[in-house]
Formats: sequence, C-alpha cells, structure tokens
Amino acid sequence: TYWNVKLGGETAIAQQIAQAAQLLQQGETVAFPTETVYGLGADATNTKAVEHIFTAKGRPSDNPLIVHIAGTEQLASLVQADCITPDHQKLMAAFWPGPLTIVLPVLAGSLSPLVTAGLNTVGIRIPDHPVALQLLREVNLPIAAPSANSSGRPSPTLASHVRDDLDGRIGGIVDGGATGVGVESTVVQFVDGELFVLRPGGVTAEQMQVILPDICIHTSEPTEVEASQTPRAPGMKYTHYAPKGTMYIVQGEDEQAVAARIQADIDAAKARGESTGVLTFEERVNWYRADLILACGSLAQPDTIARELYAALRTFDERGISYIAAEGVPATGIGQAIMNRLLKAAGHEQIRV
Ligand code: TXA
Ligand code: MG
Repeated sequence: TYWNVKLGGETAIAQQIAQAAQLLQQGETVAFPTETVYGLGADATNTKAVEHIFTAKGRPSDNPLIVHIAGTEQLASLVQADCITPDHQKLMAAFWPGPLTIVLPVLAGSLSPLVTAGLNTVGIRIPDHPVALQLLREVNLPIAAPSANSSGRPSPTLASHVRDDLDGRIGGIVDGGATGVGVESTVVQFVDGELFVLRPGGVTAEQMQVILPDICIHTSEPTEVEASQTPRAPGMKYTHYAPKGTMYIVQGEDEQAVAARIQADIDAAKARGESTGVLTFEERVNWYRADLILACGSLAQPDTIARELYAALRTFDERGISYIAAEGVPATGIGQAIMNRLLKAAGHEQIRV
C-alpha cells in the first residue's frame, strides 16, 4: 500500500496514518519518513514482524535495530529504569524528539531478541517528524526501524528511493516527501560516565558537549586495541552506502591542488574508457570536466551537504558512472557524519594532496 501524506487535508492524512498503523499492528512492515532518513518499521515486540525487516533489506542478523517511540513515558517498559542517569536525561531533554539514538540496558523480554541481535542493550530514539510521531502515537507500540534501503545501499531520503530498493518486499510506504537532516541519527552510549559516539549523525558532538560540559565525549574511530574494549555499533563494520562504481575521496588544504588532482585522475579514467563522475559542492561545480558533476549542497552550509548526499550517491548509479572522485569536507560539526558516510561509500579509499 502506498499512502501519499504530502497532499490532502488533516482528516485524510489522519485516516491514512491510521491505516499504516493498523498494518504495523498486524505484523507487517511499513516504511515511513523521519527527520533523518526513511525507516522500515515493524512491531519491535513481534519476532515474525521483525524478521520481515531483515529479509526485506537483506540485513545481516547480527546488526541490531533502533527502536522508535513517541514519548519518554514508553521507556519504562523497554529499558531498566534505574540505569537512566541524569546525564541520559539531559540528552533526552535537549535532543528528543531528534536525531539522537541512546543505547540503554534493555529490559529482558520486552522486545523481540532479533531487535537487539543478542546484545543486552537497545538503541532508542524519538524521531522529530510529524508523520513519524503521529504514526508512533497511533500504533502505540515500540517500532523497530532501520533505514528503509536494501542493505549496503545509501539510506533513502525520498519515498522513491524506498520504492527503488524494496518495492514488493514490504507492506506499505508512507510518503511524506523529502526527509530533513539527510544522514542518520547519532548513536551514543555512556560507559563509566564517559560518552561514546558509536555512529556520528544528525546531532553533533559539539552540540552534546554544550549540554554535557563536564563529560568526556569520544568521537574518533577506535584503534583495534581500543575497539576490543570500547562499545561499538555492530552496523559500523559493514560496507555501506557504496555506489556501484569505484569511488574515492581527495582531500587537502589547498583546494586548487585538490581540484587539479581530481581533474587529472578523471581525464586518465576517461581515456581508459570509464564513465566519470565528480562529487563536489555548489561553489565548485564549474571547476571540473566529467560525464556527471554533482553539486552536493554548499560548503558554506554543511547541513545542505548532509541533506543531499545519499540522493547524489544514488544518482551516480542511475547514470551508470563507473569512476567517481569525491571532495571531502572538514570533519567538524555535521561534517563528522558526512565524512563518516563518504569514507564508507569510498571503502576508505582516500588521497591526501
Ligand atoms: O536515523 C536513523 O537512525 C534511522 C531512522 C530510520 O531512525 N535508522 C537507522 O537505523 O539508521 P539502522 O538500523 O540503519 O542503523 C542503526 C545503527 C547500526 O549501526 C546499529 O549497529 C546501531 O545503530 N545499533 C543499534 N542498536 C545498537 C545497540 N544496542 N548497541 C550498539 N549499536 C546499536
Ligand atoms: Mg542503515
């Protein structure tokens, strides 16, 4: 079933969302918009329903799902209440609803074991999107929802992306138009009073530091030794977002040198018979010659880069581009999440000039 909730009056929209909620209650999967990316939802308490998510996406079963709720009053039935500290509460007050997933000790038996992939913790968030919130309120169940893409593809920021990946494999799609942030939520976990960013995302480390001025926030990818001792998001080990073509990133202090290197590589690739692409920003589209040059947002407004990134990666595939050179961004603020996704898309192929 396809519901377009961009059009129509309040009553019509409420009816459509009620139908989508009913499908979820019956154990079906429904894709819905959030402020980050589209999610593929299912009743997190129903193992059969959650199974549908994994099969529709082709997702590895050791990768746990984020649970979406409508309000903090639902927490008590999902997590061990005495583990919620004042610092957790500060994050919730500051960033919920919003693109922050907090990993907490799960209340045994409250969710399908598939949701947590065998961990004793669960990642929870309240999405900041009117359609998602209305759906979650209506369904009145915790909803497990990974991004609504086939496993390995860029996350969907439009309902058409969901259709391209999952049409015929899911119960329904609620089309609420383009999502806002464009990259997924930030996933965090407290360990011994320090905060670990397991996945950078829509809420930046800088924003959290303002709310928790005395807390040590770990943002960098851990070294191998650290990785065995610090918490990790199981999903972070998978190749993700990768376009079908070869992609790599060129970075450096001197933007002229970066552009010169990219153009030389593109010209050589073209001579080999590749179809070539450049991923750059509005300020620099005219700097390059290639088969497809995509301006992904503006360097002056990094939020716009995050918003457009996944659609751009999909466009390279649609246009059959086999060789893609991408410019990097400074890894501060939202740039941390952007660089994390770019590096994954490029299989960590990175050149410094
Ligand atoms: O913005 C988002 O977070 C989107 C929207 C739909 O809400 N959802 C999303 O879900 O990105 P997904 O499944 O694509 O990514 C979930 C990430 C994975 O990297 C997973 O390993 C991690 O969160 N994760 C989930 N539960 C965890 C847990 N208990 N401990 C550590 N990492 C966890
Ligand atoms: Mg995902």
